[in-house]
Amino acid sequence: MMPEPPLERILAQIAQSGPLTVAEYMAEALYHRSGGYYAAGDPLGRLGDFITAPEVSQMFGELVGFWILSTWIADGQKHPLTLIELGPGRGTMMSDMIRAFQSTNIDLNALDIHLVETNSDLRTMQDHALKGLSPTWHDDLSTLPNQPWYLVTNEFLDALPVHQIVWSRGAWRELVVIANKTGNGLAWGVEKTPSPLANHISDHPPNQTVDGLVFEMSPAVESVVTAVAYQVATQGGGALFIDYGEERQGRGSSLQAIRGQKFVDPLIDPGFADLSCHVDFSLVSEAARRHGASVHGPVSQCQFLLEMGIEQRANTLMENASEDQKVKIDEALHRLIGKEEMGTLFKVIALTSPGGITPAGFVRGIG
Ligand SMILES: C[S@@+](CC[C@H](N)C(=O)[O-])C[C@H]1O[C@@H](n2cnc3c(N)ncnc32)[C@H](O)[C@@H]1O
Repeated sequence: MMPEPPLERILAQIAQSGPLTVAEYMAEALYHRSGGYYAAGDPLGRLGDFITAPEVSQMFGELVGFWILSTWIADGQKHPLTLIELGPGRGTMMSDMIRAFQSTNIDLNALDIHLVETNSDLRTMQDHALKGLSPTWHDDLSTLPNQPWYLVTNEFLDALPVHQIVWSRGAWRELVVIANKTGNGLAWGVEKTPSPLANHISDHPPNQTVDGLVFEMSPAVESVVTAVAYQVATQGGGALFIDYGEERQGRGSSLQAIRGQKFVDPLIDPGFADLSCHVDFSLVSEAARRHGASVHGPVSQCQFLLEMGIEQRANTLMENASEDQKVKIDEALHRLIGKEEMGTLFKVIALTSPGGITPAGFVRGIG
């Protein structure tokens, strides 16, 4: 039997149980076992919806690998190297990180690698990319080993579900997804009763409260950051989160849908477009501090990569490159650090155990 198309499935669910919160809608559109955007297939290759930094150039993963290495060395190499990646996509970043380790005396066979990935097709690609290194896969963070580890993640937090509440008729109410008037598509709605999520706004009062003002919050992002921060604070190790977002999020909806490299309406064709929201890095750093981790950054991706030596790495790669390859390396460099490209929009934040030194990439501070 053919699986029900995601739009029909979501409409049936709304008809049966009522409106979906934005977070529920994102979860249905992205993660539902049948037809969720991330459930199966290769979303990174699908219609070329988007390209991520590790797919732009090997330099990205190599420098993330050197970050782990330098943090591990600064920690005194007290424990075997355990690597974790959340949402590894095609496994490109992890395999580039490991290539960077090849120039050191690290025993690659002793590496303990753990990948958190729900998409079985991507798991197969990751296995292939990590030829023979036998990673362990996890559906979520709850089964990760309880030992010091170094965790990295690129473009993972931005796809986690986000709630949106809107100031409407004198109260904060949850924005919801409903059926449109003809019943064959989706539309935005506002819950009648005020939202209990409004209690979380007290620490971040909006400067002015006007009708239509939207506030986003993501318990899912907070729960990932909290689990990682607690582990790093109590066991040691470190974590590097790279994602697009703001140092301190402004108000308003940042929900976006991308299909075939174009912005599309998030309510049209769920399951066929990548839905994401900007990551609020101030909330990431507050959650991490609350759970005992030292927080470094956020800094821009440009600053992080420059401080990690991306220009020197590009020059080295160019030494043995053809003219065509030199142009490609230069284009990739620009794409990763350019202010109009990924350099400013993407931010990097690191968590380490308390009392350690400032890790590489964050020494110059905010920027
Ligand atoms: C935008 S892709 C980024 C892939 C890769 N990090 C990169 O930069 O190329 C998001 C990745 O996270 C995975 N993913 C998204 N949400 C997840 C979740 N809740 N649990 C586990 N994996 C998830 C996706 O399947 C995919 O591998």
